[in-house]
Amino acid sequence: MKPIARRPRIVAGNWKMHRTAPEAAALARELASLRAADPASSSAPVVVLCPAAPALESAARALAGSGMALGAQNLHSEPQGAYTGEYSGAMLASVGCRWVIVGHSERRHGMGETDAQVAAKLRAANRDGLVPIVCVGETLAEREANRTEEVLVRQTTTAFHGLGASDLAAVVAYEPVWAIGTGKVASPEQARDAHRLIRGTLDAVLGRGAGEAMPILYGGSVNPGNAAALFAERDVDGALVGGASLEAASFWRIVIAAASAG
Ligand code: PGA
Repeated sequence: MKPIARRPRIVAGNWKMHRTAPEAAALARELASLRAADPASSSAPVVVLCPAAPALESAARALAGSGMALGAQNLHSEPQGAYTGEYSGAMLASVGCRWVIVGHSERRHGMGETDAQVAAKLRAANRDGLVPIVCVGETLAEREANRTEEVLVRQTTTAFHGLGASDLAAVVAYEPVWAIGTGKVASPEQARDAHRLIRGTLDAVLGRGAGEAMPILYGGSVNPGNAAALFAERDVDGALVGGASLEAASFWRIVIAAASAG
């Protein structure tokens, strides 16, 4: 990873399987006008919107010129081939994506995506010019069995193993599975401890300094009421937001909280 003086703040909205193409365009337009109307928007964090695949193109048109970026929620690791229902990073890039979520827990646990597949997708994203948001996180059972550290180290190590820090473009999202969609947000201290552990693991895998350079987002029940406390932790560089990203006003309050965190 190229050295950067200060890690960028990033707020990404994961719209999951919500919003049709016209609905996604409407939401993107609402966000674009909130950004345009906001005098603080020039210092705003990087904002990434991740609609469902069928809505990417209409969202891209709605976002054009807004300064916000488009991301997808998944990609296949192969550049092309007989993979019915799948799509490559190049296809995503061709409709305007610059980002892609990789290894979300709903894919790891709901669709059996393995650590090895996540690693392949991370590489595919970089090959195709996309920045992967690589999700890691423990389940409730793993946390209660004191296995959080083991799980985060394993998921992070497998994802990044063998890559060179100098030509890697990636972001990590720490998303404890027990916090996703449950309303049970991690405390700022829990997020900080996990982010520090992930930074240490990145140092071990990619070389010293890699952890400090990598933006690490927190995800799991982030809302306008709890975002500022999370962003006050210097190890929390932003958020991956699910439910609260589906409503323009609430998502924008989270963006503002990130901008105000400096
Ligand atoms: P949530 O989802 O904000 O609805 O908990 C976060 C995520 O799944 O990325």
